[in-house]
Amino acid sequence: MNKLTDDIEQIIITERQIEERVKQLAKEINNYYNGNPIIAVFVLKGSAFFASDLIRWLNMHVVIEFMSVSSYGRDTVSSGKLTIKKDVDSEVKGKDILIIEDIIDTGVTLSGLKEMFKQRGAGDIKVVTMLSKPSRRIVEFEADFTGFEVPDVFVVGYGLDYADKYRNLPYIASLKKHIYEQPNQ
Ligand code: IMP
Ligand code: MG
Repeated sequence: MNKLTDDIEQIIITERQIEERVKQLAKEINNYYNGNPIIAVFVLKGSAFFASDLIRWLNMHVVIEFMSVSSYGRDTVSSGKLTIKKDVDSEVKGKDILIIEDIIDTGVTLSGLKEMFKQRGAGDIKVVTMLSKPSRRIVEFEADFTGFEVPDVFVVGYGLDYADKYRNLPYIASLKKHIYEQPNQ
């Protein structure tokens, strides 16, 4: 039987490191908002684990909303196009928004999302990302709060997927090359 962990090359960020960083990020975010209520937008599916761990340490009132967008197909290279697959349910006009993302790679998804909330008349819009790959940007974009910077390797786990798999790993890891270099699997 092929187990989940058979495909892992190396653990890059451990459970313990994630847990500690999530609490530090929550502190930074609490300081910034100083008790102001926010709408936390979970960017599905990847940020679900990170976002739910993070918001339980926030000390203001938080309304949660789910959004699903994609700039990726099954490929590991961004197509550069943003499609909204599921939109938020509540009115964002005048509301302060914290967008919670799993990883910022090319920057296309987040710059598009932020622009969309701006156009809808949201108030203050901030972005927190668990991971960032600064070397991969094709549009200039920096998150307001970043968990970890990672090199240009494809990573999975703690919400991050390859072809919708590996999200349930408790840590962040790189995959063995033959997994994502298979032409059709
Ligand atoms: P961007 O628009 O290129 O910044 O892409 C962001 C999205 O690409 C993320 O939300 C992920 O779904 C996906 N992505 C980028 N790099 C990785 C990776 O290393 N592992 C898994 N997903 C990734
Ligand atoms: Mg994603």
